[in-house]
Amino acid sequence: MLQVIARVPAKINPVLSVGPKRPDGFHDLATVFHAVSLYDEVRAAPGDGVSLTLSGPYAVGVPADDSNLAVRAAHALAAHADVPTQVTLSVHKEIPVAAGLAGGSADAAGTLRACARLWQLELSDAELAAVAASLGSDVPFALMAGTAEGTGRGERLRAIPVGARLHWVLAVADGELSTPAVYARLDELRQDRCVASPSVGDDMPAALAAGDPQAVGRALRNDLQEAAVSLRPALADTLRTGADLGALGGIVSGSGPTCVFLARDGAHAADLATGMAASGTCAEALVVHGPAA
Ligand code: C5P
Repeated sequence: MLQVIARVPAKINPVLSVGPKRPDGFHDLATVFHAVSLYDEVRAAPGDGVSLTLSGPYAVGVPADDSNLAVRAAHALAAHADVPTQVTLSVHKEIPVAAGLAGGSADAAGTLRACARLWQLELSDAELAAVAASLGSDVPFALMAGTAEGTGRGERLRAIPVGARLHWVLAVADGELSTPAVYARLDELRQDRCVASPSVGDDMPAALAAGDPQAVGRALRNDLQEAAVSLRPALADTLRTGADLGALGGIVSGSGPTCVFLARDGAHAADLATGMAASGTCAEALVVHGPAA
């Protein structure tokens, strides 16, 4: 049977600078997206209407109904192309859910790619990116992968060069954090203080271009971190443990609760992951590298 397979990576944000809340409820961002080697896999086959089945270590508890971002992506693409939504989707989830790794966005991006091929749609990258942006702020980057600077809600992207492979440890937490709840907590913490326009700055792009892990470690920054830690105080222990174990730097990934640590090289990442797992300050420690395609 005809089947199209799309493999899509998780992302981390080495820099996440959050501006003031906009009238539409979103926040202007300036961020660096960096895809890492942890993948969900989307399979699309001909079907009658839309169906979705989920498998893999992080499938438990994820709804397979119309609220799933993969199903919404199939409908959005069909509406855009004016074709019927006829597809049997299966998603294998290796990316933890509601973890700050954009797993749902990866599934949406994989669905867009797989359905576009299955339905033989002749869409430009720009058209696909516009459908992606209608589904969520992180979906356009999930389509693109690699490393990119994101502005606007995160949907305006510009690829940035990375001079060397970087080795990371993802300290996955038990349970989830809701992205809207973390942004709302940030607004509470900021109260009515005047918030500057978001900026990625120069240090991270320069460190990435040079492929200098020490400099990348020093430049890691996430404006959502304080809000995520205030909702999940145990994350402070996770971050401290990574620093104590010699990570070059560590931050909460996106809106959390995953924490991400940078290692000197692959061997250091393996040691760091062993130490993190043994510390009991995370549920699981995964070794990944980036940028991933
Ligand atoms: O775009 P997405 O569906 O991923 O956003 C989820 C929620 O995260 C939004 O409803 C909003 O509360 C928050 N968000 C934001 N500003 C952004 C991206 C997300 O406030 N740039």
